[in-house]
Amino acid sequence: MTSYKTPDIKINYEEREVPPYDLPDPLVDEKGNAVNQTSWPHRRREILQLFETHVYGRMPKIPYEENITVNAEIVEEGPCSDWATRQQVVITFANETYRQKAHLLISLPITNQHSAPVFAGLNFFGNQTVLADDKIHITEQWVRNSHSLGITNHRANNQTRGTYAHRWQIEHVIKRGYGLATIYCGDFDPDYDDGYKNGIHPLFYQENQVSPKPNEIGAIGAWAWGLSRIFDYLANHSKVDASRIGLIGHSRLGKTALWAGATDERFSFVISNNSGCGGAALSRRCFGENTEFINTHFPHWFCENFREYNNREEMLPVDQHMLIALLAPRPVYIASAEEDLWADPVGEFLSCVNADPVYQLLCNQGLSNLDMPSIESPLHGRISYHIRSGKHDLSRYDWD
Ligand code: GCU
Repeated sequence: MTSYKTPDIKINYEEREVPPYDLPDPLVDEKGNAVNQTSWPHRRREILQLFETHVYGRMPKIPYEENITVNAEIVEEGPCSDWATRQQVVITFANETYRQKAHLLISLPITNQHSAPVFAGLNFFGNQTVLADDKIHITEQWVRNSHSLGITNHRANNQTRGTYAHRWQIEHVIKRGYGLATIYCGDFDPDYDDGYKNGIHPLFYQENQVSPKPNEIGAIGAWAWGLSRIFDYLANHSKVDASRIGLIGHSRLGKTALWAGATDERFSFVISNNSGCGGAALSRRCFGENTEFINTHFPHWFCENFREYNNREEMLPVDQHMLIALLAPRPVYIASAEEDLWADPVGEFLSCVNADPVYQLLCNQGLSNLDMPSIESPLHGRISYHIRSGKHDLSRYDWD
């Protein structure tokens, strides 16, 4: 379990101390009308706007609407084994005064004659961590220091190659016929409270603007925007099946995958692993990490307005089941881990339960059972869920 020093912030791990709460109903609109299939698109827009205004911030427009040029260049490619190809693409986003580069790594099955379905996801410490392959570009961006990865000066080094291979399972994924596309999240916004001076934020500032407005995106919004740019690139890739590009993300990047799937309906499925507070877990349960904690320790993740709900979760006009509802009717998979109480597995499951009515309305299929399953007994449906044994991590079990 994550242990942080929280002198003034109470963290609850007792089910009996979960406060009583009422969840906002995704199927009742802001005027109090019951929502049906015909009115769902309108209600969906309402919910999306509430999340934008109060939680993640308004997503910036797509590049061409903002006079941002996007230039993608394949800088390296080749076989990375006898089963996979590797392609490395540098995507540059620029306006008259600012430019930001993102390094995209794409791995596809070598034997595939046709186009492959692809998992798109961001990684935590650079593309070089996802596979031990000397040809993969080592990120030159700021990275978090990490004792276990031997990073002490916010720079990745050769030693970090392949250190997160277990989280990506590339060989397994590729041999099952899928491709994988990943970018380091720090290429869109470095994961520290930098006042939004770097990453993609400055691309969207109006004249004299130096930081996002209270309803504009923080890091999670920037990362989600980046995932959509991966889609843009893959959509025109001859070896990729653009109708089957889905999202995968773990932890903070699992929160990001959910938000990216909500804001970009081109993604055909979403897998969110151990995403917890601000991800799949219901905020109102205040179990494990809570709003005050997350906004205090990670003030740069959400929009400034979200801080209004520190210790006032019951005032939120949304809760996280509505984030899952925004994915409907596309398949979504929420995964928890038994020892990851910080991310509130029960709260993650209850979000699925409370998103189920929206899935039922739209496609007559949601969760296959509304009771929380036991460990490693996955529920498969349009909404899928499992809780595996063990800690906060993304494992082979989760991929399977
Ligand atoms: C911290 C944080 C979580 C987050 C996790 C991660 O534990 O409190 O909200 O999901 O880091 O991204 O690893």
